[in-house]
Order: sequence, then structure tokens, then C-alpha cells
Amino acid sequence: MSANIDVRVREVGLRDGLQLIAGFFPTAEKLAWIRAEAAAGVPEIEVTSYVPPKLIPQFVDAAEVTRGALGIQGLTVVALIPNLKGAERGFSLGVHKLNFVMSVSRTHNLKNVRREREESVADLRRIVELRNALPEGARPLVAAGLSTALGCSFEGRQSVDEVRRWAAELAASGVGEIVVADTVGYGDPAQVRAVFKAVMAEIGPIPVAAHFHDTRGTGLANVAAALDCGVRRFDASLAGLGGCPFAPGATGNIVMDDLCFMLDSMGLSTGVDLGKLVAVRAVLERNLAGAELHGAFARAGLPRNYRSAAERMHS
Ligand code: COA
Ligand code: ZN
Repeated sequence: MSANIDVRVREVGLRDGLQLIAGFFPTAEKLAWIRAEAAAGVPEIEVTSYVPPKLIPQFVDAAEVTRGALGIQGLTVVALIPNLKGAERGFSLGVHKLNFVMSVSRTHNLKNVRREREESVADLRRIVELRNALPEGARPLVAAGLSTALGCSFEGRQSVDEVRRWAAELAASGVGEIVVADTVGYGDPAQVRAVFKAVMAEIGPIPVAAHFHDTRGTGLANVAAALDCGVRRFDASLAGLGGCPFAPGATGNIVMDDLCFMLDSMGLSTGVDLGKLVAVRAVLERNLAGAELHGAFARAGLPRNYRSAAERMHS
């Protein structure tokens, strides 16, 4: 992590958001979004998903989007993968990071990736093996997401022990990051504390990222709770796009612009220029006519006499 960044934010709207959008978001406009957000200082972007285009046609341009994003200096380019085939696509494109997904909820895992959880773990082990056999310099970081960790719209709340158990499986697979995800926005700050503490105690030094949805308005409160547990990596999406097509009732991720403002005002540097970030919303406005764009910070602007985390650090 760069010395002057306290918290690493990752944009996931191009994947989590666009997977729900019925119309095709033009490839050039996806790249315009990625370029503008990288220029605003967002260090990492999940740019696409290596899933069958028959299943989610929005990602038919995954290769072109990945290649375009890889041309942006300094940006960590991430793609979601559901299986080994997705990983192979990522290896051949040279993407920096693969985000493998499985769910704590057995029902959601079956609906989302059509596998038992044990089969997903076996797939992940094979992916890490193949990744480790690649030449040095060509090895993407393999991250693993644990979806529905704070609740599932089929099964309801998942026990902390069950989340811990699957986190241990992911850790034993040799992944470089674990993303604990509240896929359907069931989590509350007390639960976040319990789950993240248990996961972090279980997996030792592997970095943990948090992926929250604001479905019931608890998103940023959950961020504050995860910060208290020591989490320093957060997923979010510009204007709060997002949701899983295989989880009924799933709506948007926490709003990237609001997250960056909150962190910055807490004195935690993200490296993101808030003004430039809000300006990127224009790409969404011109491509998603009629879609609901969220964001309290974009509406209200900076408080009077606001001093950024970086300004405060240097005075
Ligand atoms: N990328 C491209 N094509 C793929 C693929 C991938 N990652 N994985 C499988 N395929 C192709 C296979 O080659 C096969 O093609 P064919 O019909 O031409 O032979 C076809 O898809 C079916 O393959 P199979 O292994 O039987 O997959 P499946 O039908 O059991 O589906 C998943 C399993 C994991 C591919 C699918 O459920 C999936 O992509 N889920 C992810 C859903 C998602 O994105 N959720 C939101 C994010 S959490
Ligand atoms: Zn999500």
C-alpha cells in the first residue's frame, strides 16, 4: 500500500453494478469510466467479470475492457471469476488480480455458481496451483470473496462459526486476500464486528477486504465497524450501483463518493480527489438514463472550511 494511503478503496460498479443493467454499456464508455476514476486516484478497479457471456451479456467485452484497463499506469486491474475457466481467461489476459467468488450460504452458492461449496473450494485450490506454476511476473494475485457472509435472501443470517469455517478453507487454499461480502445488505455494525473479528483471528496475516451493500441503510455504519476491527480495504461503487442477479432483493453497493468523503473526513487518506471523483458520475448520467444514482456527498458538496485528510496531515 502506498505510504500516503491509509485505506485502499476499490471500485466494483463496473462489475457489481453493470451485471444488473439490462442494456449494454458501451465498451468505450466503460473504459472512459475506468480512466476517469483512476485519474481521480482510485487505486484499484474491478473492471469486469469472466463469466459466460451467454449468462451475463454485459461482459461480452471482458477481454477488451481488461486490455484497455491494463494500459492505465498505476491502476490495479481486477476481474471477478466464478470458476477455473474464468481464471484461465484472466491468466491469458495478464490481469493483475482475480476475485474468485463463493458463498457461505449453500443455497446461494448453488444458485450463483451451480456448485456445492466444497466444489468451489476445490476449484479455488486448483486455480491457486495453476497461478503458482506461472512464471514470476505473470502471476496475478488470487483473492477470494465470501458472499452472503452477513446474510442470504434464501437462508437468512449465517452463523459466525459457519463464516469462520469457510474463511479458514479459503485461507488454506493459499489466497492473497479475502473479501468478506454482505451481498444482500443484511449486516449491522454489531454483526460486522463479530464476523470480521472472527474471520481475522482465523486467517492470520492474509489481508481482509469488506464488501458492503447499502440495501437497508447500514452500509457506512458497517464500514465504521469494520474500520474498528482493523479493516483497511473497502469495495464500493460510484453512485451506489450494484446487486447480484442471483440473489433476490439485492440492491446497490455502498456509494464510493460517500465512502471516500467519510474516510477523508475521519482523517484517513484514500488518495482520491473528491471533486474529480464526483465528476466521474457524468459518465453514468449519460449512459444510464433513468437509473437511480445515489450519493449524499454528490448532492451536498464539501462542508464549509473543509480540510482534507492530506491537508491536515501536512499542517
Ligand atoms: N467464462 C466463459 N465461459 C465459461 C466459463 C467462464 N468462466 N465457465 C464456463 N463457461 C462455458 C463452458 O465452456 C460451457 O460452454 P459450452 O456450452 O460452449 O460448452 C458453458 O459455459 C457451460 O459450462 P459449465 O461449466 O457447465 O458451467 P455452468 O453452466 O455450470 O455454469 C458458472 C457455472 C460458474 C460458469 C456460472 O454459474 C456463472 O458464471 N456464475 C456466475 C454468476 C455471477 O456472475 N454472479 C454474480 C457475481 S457474484
Ligand atoms: Zn456485491
